[in-house]
Amino acid sequence: LTPKDLEGVTVLVSAGPTREYLDPVRFISNPSSGRMGYAVAEAARDRGARVVLVSGPTTLPAPWGVECVRVTSALEMYEAMHAHFAEADVVVMTAAVADYRPAEVKAEKEPKTAGEKVVPLVPNPDILKSLGEAKGDRVLVGFAMETHAGVDRAAEKARRKNLDFICLNYPTREGSAFGSTHNEVTIVTPEGTSEALPRMSKRALADEILDRVHRILHRRV
Ligand code: C5P
Repeated sequence: LTPKDLEGVTVLVSAGPTREYLDPVRFISNPSSGRMGYAVAEAARDRGARVVLVSGPTTLPAPWGVECVRVTSALEMYEAMHAHFAEADVVVMTAAVADYRPAEVKAEKEPKTAGEKVVPLVPNPDILKSLGEAKGDRVLVGFAMETHAGVDRAAEKARRKNLDFICLNYPTREGSAFGSTHNEVTIVTPEGTSEALPRMSKRALADEILDRVHRILHRRV
């Protein structure tokens, strides 16, 4: 039986990719399935938390007992995360937010033209960093994908975004991260300590993350 160790706690989770439309039928995105964030939402619910799940476009059904807010773009995800931040004690940001969006969304489908095409892109806001700036006593957890210098880069991100810890994964490792049912992460703190967890199901990893969140919440009281 799952212990109800997160009763009275509100957990805000982001999941999935964002879509950045160029015109009504084309967008820039990434292959995030949303599975990691949905697993965190379900695990937190089963441990008694109130859960708000802000999800980009995925094929996953909304989990029962979770307040699901569906968004499309990074700007919409930014709005939804900030709208629910005040009530959150814990934020787990698993979403694969697009770093850039087209400078302009064309109202009509862009016709095909001969030769090269250049699309101006503008940076999206860093949602997690903006939440970290207003952290208060919340516990904030991020994810980081790195192909090299993983631990150092992840620790630097944890410091820059004011996180309690960050889950580092390697998208180039087989059977991990994007689209997979399993994941293999190293938990990295802002101080640069790291703990490599074995490959496990995203649900088991969600509980590992929540065990650490629970310890951080209790060290404070
Ligand atoms: O800086 P980087 O994109 O590697 O950081 C990854 C972490 O920051 C993830 O938790 C991701 O959800 C979050 N992020 C965000 N807004 C962005 C980019 C990333 O919240 N625009």
